[in-house]
Amino acid sequence: MKKLIAGNWKMNLDRAGALKLAADLEAGMPHTVESVVCPPFPYIEIVGHALKNGNVALGAQNCSGYDDGAHTGDVSVKMLKDIGCGYVILGHSERRQHHEETDAIVAHKAVKVHENGLIAIICVGETENQREQGQEMIVVEKQLKKSIPSSATAENTVIAYEPVWAIGTGKTATPDDAKTMHAFIREKLPPALKKARILYGGSMKPDNAAALLTTPNVDGGLIGGASLKAADFIAIAKSA
Ligand code: PGA
Repeated sequence: MKKLIAGNWKMNLDRAGALKLAADLEAGMPHTVESVVCPPFPYIEIVGHALKNGNVALGAQNCSGYDDGAHTGDVSVKMLKDIGCGYVILGHSERRQHHEETDAIVAHKAVKVHENGLIAIICVGETENQREQGQEMIVVEKQLKKSIPSSATAENTVIAYEPVWAIGTGKTATPDDAKTMHAFIREKLPPALKKARILYGGSMKPDNAAALLTTPNVDGGLIGGASLKAADFIAIAKSA
């Protein structure tokens, strides 16, 4: 299976910047990996138009757990599908921390992603404090158990291990840390997900990507900061 290289643009760029980045990725992303970018909601559709040859897929950073109706400010998976999204990131630590997203909410949203035939990228990962206390396995196992709904399969779900202390900090898990945690995640996944992709995320950059992406059970990367520069994102993809 090809590695999956996913870009999480978070709340960055403007319309022109998003279009320029998309055009550069369209021209330069290698076919040796599968790739997806998740722009901010207002730019998803125009980025989709810019990625017209289909080499780079389109995703969203969040979705509603409901189909339609009185949910002011929310966006349904049906709408995301309608504008060409194939993936939705769920349970990112920034949403768990700042929007009180619980494992139950993540699982509820993942069901909607699956019902609509999209792929859920479900994020898990421990905080620095939890790692210092030796709790990282316990935390991740609980998140896996409670955030993954029974509708999940290896085809419709990707797991992203993102240690919170590594996100946007410049600190990365060592390949050894990643090896241990990814093997643990693989072991704990339910039978239908045994072959699911497990991405690593957290300060992945061109200079550390090769070491992480050649680690056993690391099936790709979820990249924040370095996905905002076409040259860096392409370099990461080429190192996979
Ligand atoms: P980062 O973000 O690459 O900037 O650390 C990763 C993420 O939050 O998905």
